[in-house]
Amino acid sequence: MSGLVVYFSRNGENYFGGELKNLEKGNTEVIAEYIHELTGADLFKVEPSVEYPIDYMECIDVAKKEQKQNARPEIKETLNDISSYDTIYIGFPNWWGTLPMPMFTQLEQLDFGGKTVKPFVTHEGSGFGTSKKDLKKLCAGADIKNGLSIPGVNVGDAKGTVEAWINE
Ligand SMILES: Cc1cc2nc3c(=O)[nH]c(=O)nc-3n(C[C@H](O)[C@H](O)[C@H](O)COP(=O)(O)O)c2cc1C
Repeated sequence: MSGLVVYFSRNGENYFGGELKNLEKGNTEVIAEYIHELTGADLFKVEPSVEYPIDYMECIDVAKKEQKQNARPEIKETLNDISSYDTIYIGFPNWWGTLPMPMFTQLEQLDFGGKTVKPFVTHEGSGFGTSKKDLKKLCAGADIKNGLSIPGVNVGDAKGTVEAWINE
């Protein structure tokens, strides 16, 4: 069975277990790479054409505005065809309760009919928030499986948890 990980992750200043830290690799990317290592799934990173500010406070402002406007920020590269994959892992950080808006830009371009979707989120306490409701709309026609929610501070130790979830 061939898999694909479609994910968003931002490196830069972020809260990490209650403290502001500069992350060289985003938390969600760490999990995406575990999935790649464990299953051989391909990786597709959704990257906005205009990068988010490194500064955490500036970033949360920009993200909040985008969400309020229900924006579809332009992305560097768009994936259009997932027909050769059976399982799509969808990963993102919880941003203001749901997926970062560039994930909406990307996921709306894809035909999820007949696909298996396994969603995962990293967060600072809110888990999936309301994102599962959004995912249902974004992945119409997919069989959406149990999601995996990991606090950002735990990603370094999460490989076993990720493996168990993959095999559910
Ligand atoms: C713009 C923004 C909004 C966020 N909103 C939330 C939130 O509503 N709830 C939460 O638990 N964490 C929130 N966080 C924290 C991130 O979800 C968490 O740090 C995540 O692990 C970051 O993943 P990344 O490093 O892959 O980008 C927010 C972070 C940012 C930058």
